[in-house]
Amino acid sequence: MAEPEESRKMKERLLRYERESRYLRKDSDQRKVLEEVFDQATLLAIEELVARKDLGELHGVVNAGKEARVYYGEDRGGKPVAVKIYLISASDFRKRIAYIAGDRRFGRLPSGSRDTIYLWTRKEFKNLQVADRAGVRVPRPLAFHKNILVMEYIGNPPEPARTFAESEVDEDDCAWTFRAIRRLWKEAGLVHADFSEFNVFKSGGERVLFDMGSAVVASHPQSEDFLRRDVANMVRFFRKRGIATKDADSWIREISK
Ligand SMILES: Nc1ncnc2c1ncn2[C@@H]1O[C@H](COP(=O)(O)OP(=O)(O)OP(=O)(O)O)[C@@H](O)[C@H]1O
Ligand SMILES: [Mg+2]
Repeated sequence: MAEPEESRKMKERLLRYERESRYLRKDSDQRKVLEEVFDQATLLAIEELVARKDLGELHGVVNAGKEARVYYGEDRGGKPVAVKIYLISASDFRKRIAYIAGDRRFGRLPSGSRDTIYLWTRKEFKNLQVADRAGVRVPRPLAFHKNILVMEYIGNPPEPARTFAESEVDEDDCAWTFRAIRRLWKEAGLVHADFSEFNVFKSGGERVLFDMGSAVVASHPQSEDFLRRDVANMVRFFRKRGIATKDADSWIREISK
């Protein structure tokens, strides 16, 4: 069967962005990065998302992190979406295992890096769904396949939305943060486990929690340790920014009530 025209175009565009991307150095690294992002399975996965009508367009790179590339695109109706593609070969998948093992939703541990990344993608999708249903503001999850996650775009593409780290923050942001942690714990039964000022958008008068791949269910043996760490991180962040807030122990008591 001939490759559908639209996914062929989309792949060509991806390759071009990757070449032109200011994130790449103009040396032999380039080929390596291209192969990492666009291994055959990833290209097929993009095709599959298009065939399933879960993705309409891909426009360009929003963020090129070490472990994932985030693109902005459109769904079939022209609404902006964020497309997060986890890199297979670049990722240190071993450090993800602690956030998968012990989470009863996912059964047996995957054995290789590829399967770990696929599972991580599914986990992030699931976590976004559960958080969304519990009323925690997160990017709405739209679809996933293999190492690709499609979700609501936060902010105005192609601008990446600002996070707490790049914004002025106030008492309301602080109150929102601990309400979000509590609601996630109490209503969704989840701990984010990588809660930080880099993983909350502050955009258009809204705060949006994201990057949920690490989140674990409350029955995970380390869930309370992760909860304490998340709370401590955010207390430290707000105090550093001059916002008076309760100490971590008081917040933990309040969150657990
Ligand atoms: N839903 C979204 N809407 C708009 N931009 C997004 C969205 N999700 C991610 N981004 C952009 O991509 C960046 C990285 O996303 P995320 O934190 O989920 O990935 P990461 O794996 O932690 O990457 P990094 O290592 O660069 O932090 C965000 O800071 C933001 O600029
Ligand atoms: Mg992040």
